[in-house]
Amino acid sequence: MKNTEPTIFFDGKEKIFYLENEKITCAFWIDPCGTLQTLYFGEKVGHDLIPVVPKAPGQHAVTRKKDGYSCDPSLISAAVHTSFGGDSFEPSLSVVLPDGARRLDLICVSHREAPKSRLAGLPSVSGGKSLLFELMDPAVPAISVTLSFSIQAGQSAVESSVLIRNCGKEPVTLTRAYSFSLQIPAGEWDTVVLHGQHAQECQIDRRPLSFGLFSVGTRRGISSSSMNPFLALCENAATETSGRVYAAALVYSGSHVLSAEKMPSGNVRFQGGVQDGEFTWKLDPGEAFQTPEAVLCFSSDGLGGMSRAFHDLFRAHLIPQRRVSSPRPVVFNNWEGTHFTFNGEKLRAMADSVAGTGIDTFVLDDGWFGKRNDSTSGLGDWFTNEEKLGGPLSDLVEYVHQKGMKFGLWFEPEMISRDSDLFRAHPDWVLREPHHEPVESRNQWVLDLGRAEVRACIADRVNRILAENRIDYVKWDMNRDLAEGYSSVLPPERQGETFHRYVLGLYDLLDRVVNANPDVFFEGCSSGGCRFDAGMLAYFPQIWASDNTDAYSRTRIQYGTSLVYPPSSISCHVSSSPNASYGSHFVPFASRASLAQFGATGYEFDPTKLPEQDLASISGQIETYRGDEDLILNGDLYRLLSPFEGEFFAVMNVSRDRRRARLLVFRRLRYANVPLTRASLQGLDPELDYDCAELGGRFSGATLMRFGVPLRLSGEDGAALVLHFRAVN
Ligand code: GLA
Repeated sequence: MKNTEPTIFFDGKEKIFYLENEKITCAFWIDPCGTLQTLYFGEKVGHDLIPVVPKAPGQHAVTRKKDGYSCDPSLISAAVHTSFGGDSFEPSLSVVLPDGARRLDLICVSHREAPKSRLAGLPSVSGGKSLLFELMDPAVPAISVTLSFSIQAGQSAVESSVLIRNCGKEPVTLTRAYSFSLQIPAGEWDTVVLHGQHAQECQIDRRPLSFGLFSVGTRRGISSSSMNPFLALCENAATETSGRVYAAALVYSGSHVLSAEKMPSGNVRFQGGVQDGEFTWKLDPGEAFQTPEAVLCFSSDGLGGMSRAFHDLFRAHLIPQRRVSSPRPVVFNNWEGTHFTFNGEKLRAMADSVAGTGIDTFVLDDGWFGKRNDSTSGLGDWFTNEEKLGGPLSDLVEYVHQKGMKFGLWFEPEMISRDSDLFRAHPDWVLREPHHEPVESRNQWVLDLGRAEVRACIADRVNRILAENRIDYVKWDMNRDLAEGYSSVLPPERQGETFHRYVLGLYDLLDRVVNANPDVFFEGCSSGGCRFDAGMLAYFPQIWASDNTDAYSRTRIQYGTSLVYPPSSISCHVSSSPNASYGSHFVPFASRASLAQFGATGYEFDPTKLPEQDLASISGQIETYRGDEDLILNGDLYRLLSPFEGEFFAVMNVSRDRRRARLLVFRRLRYANVPLTRASLQGLDPELDYDCAELGGRFSGATLMRFGVPLRLSGEDGAALVLHFRAVN
């Protein structure tokens, strides 16, 4: 299907707007009371929708009436829900007016169409068209609300964000400012979330949605591993390949909330945005608050279709375009091999070992700066520890360059150690409550990135190291939650802004470092995948998915992460086995490499201690990876077998023209009589014939998808299988 420009059609008679592309329609209706309602979101429909207004049941219902039309504000699918106007369910916007009043009856006063523009201070999906609605309450002219909905060609998603402006003469306070509100039709829906913790990120949890409020999120100041900023509602009967799914992912890296409220009518109010638990935001006259963007995705092809919709949108319109589809560095990282215990000699020996294997980037992790020999000191002192490295960093970089590899370096720019020169010079730069010692986590504190001078100092220090040492790659880490939402430079009534200001400051810092160094490849990390979100993807083409590199655990982590994020963004390394930190089972080196080629790949162990035959096999593994890289980075992902449901992990990457494909299978434990002996492929063209070198034969796409391929795995635990398919006709 050829992608054409998205369109916006306005039926002036019915007051219905159709925001659409060749795949989906998102329709809005201005009802006779002037309320903006989301009339429809889903597969493409004609310009002939008929608004049906639910009848208010019972005498307790509140009604709004005008010209013979009446509605219950709780039941309608308003595009923004406010309190105290008779809507008794969760609002998406709460504003406290100067006199303490909170009711806002918003009506649509104008609309306009515009090319999609960047959100002020926040990352956002780019390109396409926006439909903007201006809402006001005639009784409260001080508040203006602009809803923005955007769509791109060929994508099964729209983006929603809200701008709230104080047009009055006195300050007002926001206590909730969500990014979207969408009504899902009555039905039996399941919720799907990605929950977890450090070393166990993106675990899938699916369960039926019952009546009442289902709400997930985090108050950790970062998007976190405890709850990824994603929530899907899928039909009870939906599978990987069929059924309707509505899903939201926030382009945001801070505390967040996503909720689904099943109302007595059976309809579901789906909404979310910045977490409002501790959030308040004061708007002085003339000021505006921009919410982060929510990506709303629709699939009628089950969870697999949902994932491909997110992947396509993120790859085409969010992830830095100069990086997203080009070959990735295959890194060697010293962390699991040495932790903090290394010197220049050890690093050179490691570089000697991996040079010539096809590994093209040598990454020096934590411990190269300040006086940092363990996790208790040095963060913030972004100056080379020459004593430890045995000379200037530039010498080591030069050594690695001469070995034919690029050089990567670890930073944790958002943090400060108590034992650091930075803290001794600027004790007030720490984010902390005034009456207590700051909360420590991993022996470190968080810098107040809401402050411009803090960002300027850190950007300057990091940029200086990059410029002076010919650094090619950076791993940007962040190893703790934000515990305290208090900034020493904000007045009392603005303390509720601290977390969000931190996130805005972070994006500004990323602009100053990542965007200021276009030749450097940046990878994101937060104790593994503790800040794996769409906001980060706007800066980092790939993110370290987990500190847990044990292949068994990785099957679930990688599978879960792929629900929302494309394989190209999921960074996976081959490590030692049984893994020193997280593993108890041995996995063959070749299987570890296959599983680590699920996404952007790399290696992480002490290569000077690696068995000779394993070291020798790396070059062949990287050759395979490079051969498959285009499929991994740019192909469509199909998940065939879930490690959450059994011992198998199986996925396919299929080229957009369906002429090439790769099947990757990993079997965790081998039991006697494993019943699964073949797997049905997906995404191929049933009319085409495919050669499979590994199976030594030619098969029709129909056979491969309906009968399947034999899973001839070796007899050991942790066995992997990779098959390649190439169309011949
Ligand atoms: C985090 C990262 C690891 C490593 C350490 C260094 O845990 O996820 O990969 O960089 O920090 O301290």
